[in-house]
Amino acid sequence: MSGFDKDWLGLRGPADRAARHDGLVDDLARYLSDMKDTRILDIGCGTGSTWRALNDRLPGAVHWGLLDHDPLLLEEAERRISANGRVGFCRHDLNDINTLPLKGVDVVTASALFDLCSERLCEAMADRLASTLCGLYAALNYNGIMHWSIPHALDEQIVDLFNQHQRTDKGFGPALGPDATACLARLLTTRGFSVRIEESPWRMDAGSTALQVALLNGLRQPLLEISELSEATIEGWLGYRLWAIGEPDSSCMVGHTDLLALPV
Ligand SMILES: C[S@@+](CC[C@H](N)C(=O)[O-])C[C@H]1O[C@@H](n2cnc3c(N)ncnc32)[C@H](O)[C@@H]1O
Repeated sequence: MSGFDKDWLGLRGPADRAARHDGLVDDLARYLSDMKDTRILDIGCGTGSTWRALNDRLPGAVHWGLLDHDPLLLEEAERRISANGRVGFCRHDLNDINTLPLKGVDVVTASALFDLCSERLCEAMADRLASTLCGLYAALNYNGIMHWSIPHALDEQIVDLFNQHQRTDKGFGPALGPDATACLARLLTTRGFSVRIEESPWRMDAGSTALQVALLNGLRQPLLEISELSEATIEGWLGYRLWAIGEPDSSCMVGHTDLLALPV
């Protein structure tokens, strides 16, 4: 189990879809348009949200591989997607980058994954991408910014503490958290890739109440683990933020970035 349950991934799916930067998807489509028998490998696929967001926007008949280490998420992805004959499913632990099945793959895609990863893993990934001349579309990596239209005096401190937690080990060694996109850009630029980065924020208002509630409730444990603020202070802040969701003109922005790196 990965700790990412399908209900949370289902809740964030529409916000992720709206947030993805269209221009990068168009660039990816243009890059693939001259190719025949295109192959994409989506790593950390969860229930298949990258496939759902991209497949209809890419040219030709793309062959997809969906890869994750969590059997339950892979099973759900297969249940939702398998009627499409051009998708294969693969269980693999990304800590083992050397045996990642990249043979014939034109582009690796990954959504909401690299902010969980360590610099060492990104370096190993960049080496493999460079040696196979494979592109990378790395979308929706958290960039460290959270902003609420209705402020609270502790917002900045809470976001700083959450960002500290984002840099702790998420199963790959010390995580890059908000530095993931900059790290990938540096590693891939130095290996000769052409790199484009764009913002892809979640913008949530009253129409995204369930996602905002789940996001706030998901902050509780990381904030307690960092243990700089008392439990009562954290609960007080969470109570205020949950109350503010229902106020007029209330909104929340969570920053992400998308990256497209193509071999030149
Ligand atoms: C935040 S979720 C994103 C899922 C999906 N890409 C999406 O956007 O909905 C991170 C994904 O990475 C997967 N993951 C975490 N650690 C992994 C590992 N060591 N090997 C393979 N996949 C892993 C999780 O199972 C989960 O599906």
